[in-house]
Amino acid sequence: MHLTREEERIYEGEAGWTRQKAMEILVAIGEINDASMLIPIKTAHLSGASYKTIGDAFEFINSLEGRVAVESTLNPVGMDLEKEKWREMGVLEPFAKKQLAVLAAYKSLGVSAECTCVPYLLGGGDLPKKGEHLAWAESSAVLFANSVLGARTNMEGAPSALAAALIGKTPLYGLHQAENRKPTVRVKVCEREKCELADADYSALGFLIGNLVGDKIPAIELPVSSRPPSRDELKHLSAAVGATGSVGMFHIKGVTPEAEEEELPEEEIKIGKEDLKAVFGGAEDENCEPEGTAIALGCPHCSPAELRRIYGLLKEEGRGRKVRKDFFVFTARAIKESESVRREGLVEKIENFGVKVKVICDTCFVVSPAFEGYDCVLTNSGKMLRYVPLLCGGARARLCRTEECVRGAF
Ligand code: F3S
Repeated sequence: MHLTREEERIYEGEAGWTRQKAMEILVAIGEINDASMLIPIKTAHLSGASYKTIGDAFEFINSLEGRVAVESTLNPVGMDLEKEKWREMGVLEPFAKKQLAVLAAYKSLGVSAECTCVPYLLGGGDLPKKGEHLAWAESSAVLFANSVLGARTNMEGAPSALAAALIGKTPLYGLHQAENRKPTVRVKVCEREKCELADADYSALGFLIGNLVGDKIPAIELPVSSRPPSRDELKHLSAAVGATGSVGMFHIKGVTPEAEEEELPEEEIKIGKEDLKAVFGGAEDENCEPEGTAIALGCPHCSPAELRRIYGLLKEEGRGRKVRKDFFVFTARAIKESESVRREGLVEKIENFGVKVKVICDTCFVVSPAFEGYDCVLTNSGKMLRYVPLLCGGARARLCRTEECVRGAF
């Protein structure tokens, strides 16, 4: 891989040990992937933020010096960071101490402490642009950035995203190159069937697509009978594809900025109405109630529109009743504190449905140790459907539409 004189200098350690290690990681990854050079990135998004997932490996971050070279955001950590809210969540003190130390390590490098998996919903509309290079490590955000925004990022791991953040560059390979972003398989959804896709149908669809395509880039052909997906539905589609597959982008005509330019591949996969239906609560979930059941919404973190909808559904389904089951809504702190959410009092209005309803920031059901005591979880997220059974104390997860999740809480 060709390095500029400046990059050589960093590689040789003339810019300090931290930047040398970061450059070594980028060069090693570049060489494995036949990259010809490093390219500048606009932003980095780092994973490995929750102490539940990173463990004591974070001590390595403590040994680093200097600052990140580009604006860098962080994935959710293992607890809500507001004052002592972690105690209310049931997070134990030793975990909380370690979690705060992880956060301090990232902050000392200049990483923003906005802990969320939806960096593209922050920043007041200053979204990554078509063709802009990024180094993002959260799979749901990677798929959204590539497929919906037309920006370019590979599916980075925690070390490579951090190395890219420190240097401000990433190796030129994979999804940074136009020739590797073309669709390689067509996915026809509800061909010759009348399907109205909405809400968690996109989680179910992404769950199936990820499983079926593996690392092939799908050109998804949505049913003509369906309205175009909303941004929130595309967020859920991205998260589910990233959870079950290993591909970093999809194409949808009218959504993906490059989709119009691409020729369609020959290989095709069909997904029908019955396939989608089968992803929603299977037979093994029939006893998924009532005790030991929680409801979790906000994977990926809720947008203001989703918070608004959840409040509307609570009003509609509750008809004056209080919520009886543990009901968690996850969002980014910047969204909770955004002007519109505060002005409408959305968080207070949602939490007024009973002591069991909590709007939680900075963390999520999967990466926090606070949610491991449930038998079953109702969710509208295909990503949770995949990860809850693996990472949340063996709980079963059941995919439901948002309104069914809310109904199940009363
Ligand atoms: Fe985000 Fe946690 Fe889901 S990090 S995408 S809410 S598993």
